[in-house]
Amino acid sequence: MDFQKELDYRASDVDRVIVKYLPKVEGYQKTVFEAMRYSILVGGKRVRPILMEETYKLFGGKSKALEPFMAAIEMIHSYSLVHDDLPAMDNDMLRRGNPTTHAQYGEAMGILAGDGLLNFAYETALKAFDEAPLDATAIVRALKVLSNKSGVYGMVGGQVADVEEVKQNGISRNRIDFIYSMKTAALIEAAMMIGAILGGADDEQVSIIEGVAHKIGLAFQIQDDILDVEGDEAVLGKEIGQDSKNQKVTFISFEGMDRAKAEVTYLSDEGITELLKLPYENRFLTKLLEFLVHREK
Ligand code: IPE
Ligand code: IPE
Ligand code: MG
Ligand code: MG
Ligand code: MG
Repeated sequence: MDFQKELDYRASDVDRVIVKYLPKVEGYQKTVFEAMRYSILVGGKRVRPILMEETYKLFGGKSKALEPFMAAIEMIHSYSLVHDDLPAMDNDMLRRGNPTTHAQYGEAMGILAGDGLLNFAYETALKAFDEAPLDATAIVRALKVLSNKSGVYGMVGGQVADVEEVKQNGISRNRIDFIYSMKTAALIEAAMMIGAILGGADDEQVSIIEGVAHKIGLAFQIQDDILDVEGDEAVLGKEIGQDSKNQKVTFISFEGMDRAKAEVTYLSDEGITELLKLPYENRFLTKLLEFLVHREK
């Protein structure tokens, strides 16, 4: 099988997992269930759950017990996109090739669908305790990583600095690094660390994985910024030119396009080299990390 086919296969398997855990569309809160489904099922590359599963396999994980966490991280990621697109934030109307959640369901339901997905992520992750072969201590460690990397010391913290960024005069490279580390790298780190923890990695190995994911996550966001300038809207599934419209200071506006591209390659190579130092190998994972930073969507 070629890489793209394998990737598509894994992404559709993630869809199956998500559908399995999503709440039924019923009751007086029906609209929010519908908006949650719409936000998460309408598209998306499923990068984080796939990274989680492949890292889990790298450490010898085999069972389906990881599934609640795979669904949970995609719920958190999808909620972050729903809120990121709101008029008060990036004010975007197109996401994953479709109208954004607030464009489709209105702003109030956009906020609530995001809230619903965030909370439901934990309701779902907690189901890991019902999955037979997983060790409860490992599940608790995974939950700590998930909650920490998603919140004010992780993704939310990065979004705070990101939305305030436009008001700052003379933004520093340190601040840009903070934003990229938090708003994007943190969830990639969580994905891979949770895979490692539940796959049986020890603390030192989990910290190596955190370092790998950090570099890949930074490269992932710089590539996202590059695609916002050079991407094809039809392929990307979101409007291009939004960063400049929103007067965002990005790695590109700070360092220039050539340096941004060089940084993507540098960070990605470094991350992969660190990964390959581990005494285990998952060739699909290595290929995936290479692919991610040169992606076109
Ligand atoms: C978009 O993430 C937001 C960033 C953190 C750059 P993805 O590029 O993973 O978006 P989907 O899930 O495929 O839509
Ligand atoms: C998003 O960064 C990071 C999140 C935590 C959602 P962007 O604002 O650049 O993501 P896109 O380009 O809208 O997907
Ligand atoms: Mg944003
Ligand atoms: Mg955005
Ligand atoms: Mg972007």
